Amino acid sequence: MSGELEHSDALVLFGASGDLAYKKIFPALQAMVRRCRLDVPVIGVARSGWNLEQFRARARESLEKHGEVDEGTFAKLSGLLRYVDGDYREASTYAALRKELGDAKRPLHYLAIPPSVFPVVVEGLAHASCTDNARVVLEKPFGRDLVSARKLNATLQSVFDESSIFRIDHYLGKGPVQNLAIFRFANTFLEPIWNRHYVDSVQITMAESFGVQGRGAFYEEAGAIRDVVQNHMLQVVSLLAMEPPTTSYHESIRDEQVKVLRALRPLRPEQVVRGQFSGYRREPGVAPASTVETFAALQLQIDSWRWDDVPFYIRVGKCLPMTATEVLVKLKRPPLAQLSPSETNYFRFRLSPDVIIAIGARTKRPGDELISEPTELKVVQQASNDDLEPYERLLGEAMEGDTVLFARQDGVEAAWAAVDPVLGDATPVHSYEPGTWGPAQAAELTAAVGGWREPGSC
Ligand code: BG6
Repeated sequence: MSGELEHSDALVLFGASGDLAYKKIFPALQAMVRRCRLDVPVIGVARSGWNLEQFRARARESLEKHGEVDEGTFAKLSGLLRYVDGDYREASTYAALRKELGDAKRPLHYLAIPPSVFPVVVEGLAHASCTDNARVVLEKPFGRDLVSARKLNATLQSVFDESSIFRIDHYLGKGPVQNLAIFRFANTFLEPIWNRHYVDSVQITMAESFGVQGRGAFYEEAGAIRDVVQNHMLQVVSLLAMEPPTTSYHESIRDEQVKVLRALRPLRPEQVVRGQFSGYRREPGVAPASTVETFAALQLQIDSWRWDDVPFYIRVGKCLPMTATEVLVKLKRPPLAQLSPSETNYFRFRLSPDVIIAIGARTKRPGDELISEPTELKVVQQASNDDLEPYERLLGEAMEGDTVLFARQDGVEAAWAAVDPVLGDATPVHSYEPGTWGPAQAAELTAAVGGWREPGSC
C-alpha cells in the first residue's frame, strides 16, 4: 500500500519441521512461487537433525498431502530452500542462520513455533544481528489473557518495531471476511441503515461439525473463547461495526477496527454460556475432569454512537450439526405488522465453507390477496482458481511489509480485555451431545431477539 515499503529479501522459517509448516506454509510457498511472488531464499530452521535434502523431501511430502506438487514450480521452490539445523537455545544456531542469510538485508522471520519459545528466539536473533531491518511473523495465540499478551508484545517490541510485526489471524486473510468491509462501504444503500436505528441484532455463528481432531492437549490450554472468539470472531465483529476508514493514510483501516475492539464492553458472566461436547474428556490429551469449553455463546455490547443497545451475538463450537461460518444482520421490523411480520428483513453473509451474500426481504405473494411472503435475494460466489488461500495472501503481504491484514498490538490487547473476565472457569460449563447446537442454556441469550438462526435457515 505504501510506496516506501521494501520487499523482504529472505524468508526464515522457524519450526520448519512442525505441523503448521507441513499443513499450511509449504502449500502457500509453492502457490507464491507459481504466481511469481516469491523468489528469495527460504531458510528452514529446526532441530530435527535434517540436512537440506531432507528438508526438501519434507516440503514435497507436505505438498503431496496438502495440495499437489506442481513439478515445475516445486523445482523452483526447491532451489530457493536452505536449511539450518540447531537448537533454538544455542547461539551457534543463529550464527549458522546469519551465515546462511548471506547478503540479505531485510529478512522476514516466521515463528511457526510454540509461543513459549518466542522470547528465546527473538533474543537469539537479536544477538546474532539477524533483526536489523527484519520483519517477524507469528501465529495466534497472542498470549492467553491480557497480562500475557502484554508481556508477549513487550518481548516482540523490545526488538521489532510494531510496523515490522505481523500477527497472523488467518480469518483476516479470507476473501469473504474482507468482503464484509467492501460490501459495507462500497454500497451507498447500506450506509443510512447500518446503525442502531435500523439494525435489530447481529449474530455470528462459527459451527464446526468435527471435534478437536487429535489436538486435545492444545485445546486444553485454549478452549473455544481463546481459540476462536478472542481473535477470529472479534475481527469479524470489528469489520462489521467499524466506521468508514479514510483513504488518506495507511493505518486507517486498522485504526477503525481497533476503535471497535476498544468499545467492547468487557463481558459479564451472565452474557456467556459455555458448553463441552460429551466425549471430549475421553480425547487424548484431555483431563478426565476437564472444564474447558468446546462451545461458547455470548452477547457483546459495543459502546459506540452507532451501536449502542444493539446486541452482537457470537456462537462457536465443535461437534455441532454442520460446518459453516455465517453472519446474520437482522433489521428492525417495518411498521404495519400485518404486512411485514418480524425477522424477515436481514443481511446474511456466509463466510465459509461456501460464500453467500443474501438479503432477506418480503414480496407480494402471487394471487388476489395483498399478503407478503419472505424471499431471499442471494448471490453465491463459486471458489475460483484465482482465489488466494489465506496463508498465501498473508505471507505475501508480510513479505511486502503491508500490515493491514494483520492484528495490531492495541487491537489484540483490547480483544483480550473484552473476554478476560469470562476466561477459564468464570462461568459453568454445560454438557451437550455431539451433533446438537450446544447446551440448552445458550437459547436464553438470544430469546429477546427471536433465538439463534442456524446458518442458511432464514
Ligand atoms: C483455528 C482454530 O484458528 O481456526 C481451529 O485453532 C479452527 O480450532 C480453525 O478449527 C477454523 O479455521 P477455518 O479457516 O477452517 O474456518
